[in-house]
Amino acid sequence: EKAGNSLIRFPLKNVRGIPLMEPIAQNFETVWAFCPDSTDILIATYPKAGTTWTQEIVDLLLHNGDTEACRRGPITMRSPFLEIFSPPPIPSGLDLLCKMSPPRIIKTHLPIQLVPEGFWENKCKVIYVARNAKDNLVSYFHFEKMNFTQPEPGPWENYIQKFMRGELAWGSWYDHVKGYWEEIEKRNILYLFYEDMKENPQREVERIKQYLDLSVTDDVIARIVELTSFEVMKKNPMANYSFIPKPVFDQSISPFMRKGEVGDWANHFSASQLKIFDEDYEQQMKMANIPFRTNM
Ligand code: A3P
Repeated sequence: EKAGNSLIRFPLKNVRGIPLMEPIAQNFETVWAFCPDSTDILIATYPKAGTTWTQEIVDLLLHNGDTEACRRGPITMRSPFLEIFSPPPIPSGLDLLCKMSPPRIIKTHLPIQLVPEGFWENKCKVIYVARNAKDNLVSYFHFEKMNFTQPEPGPWENYIQKFMRGELAWGSWYDHVKGYWEEIEKRNILYLFYEDMKENPQREVERIKQYLDLSVTDDVIARIVELTSFEVMKKNPMANYSFIPKPVFDQSISPFMRKGEVGDWANHFSASQLKIFDEDYEQQMKMANIPFRTNM
């Protein structure tokens, strides 16, 4: 079974300097040509920054907190992943999108310069979620171990190096978070932080509601906060990725809903790894001024 599994780990191939998994790279021109409706909502993240959480929040907001409506299908069907081309039975994001009517909640991990221009031309709402580098890296490491479509993560020590050099699928975390940050004003992006969502989910759900111009009562907001807590989503079969077959996502290696915490990085980095990482971080992020928090 291991041998079979390893066969579907995709190599990375550069598209305009960004390493993407091969099937995505091969189909990139089709993705680039995608033209959304002006009512479509884009949720953009570096992988493992809190995408699924935000997708669930937005789907519930659009359905006024209706649980039944939001259990109508797996999150991957309710909110398609724009650029994904995975092995069957997972349909491509574009296949799903063309069967849905707007407003659609579209997920992407593309860095801002690879987001199809139609999103900006049509002035779509774009929600970006950023997570502090160390927790994001830890989460991605565990995810790549269990997701057999992603490249083999290799040992932890090397993984940190690959992250710092931007050699993982979807490229550099540093460039990703900076790219969207610089365009907040010009492109009217709602830029959220995973740590803020953990600290005060009600406040952040409220911000999303405002940004999307929705009228939802305080009771419904409270309900959505409850339904999108880590514990509830971990048990929700339509949100916890248990619908992906084990040869693709092996949740016995690491569950998709793994820890859902801020600060788990402290359980992974040695003192010397931390020193190297922090020094490099200073260099890569010194001009950016993005208020990341690594503890709460
Ligand atoms: P951990 O691996 O640190 O647990 P994405 O959806 O972008 O792939 O991100 C997955 C990460 O978000 C995982 O982090 C996962 O546990 C966490 N997550 C998912 N739903 C969450 C929720 N409702 N609250 C907090 N964290 C959540």
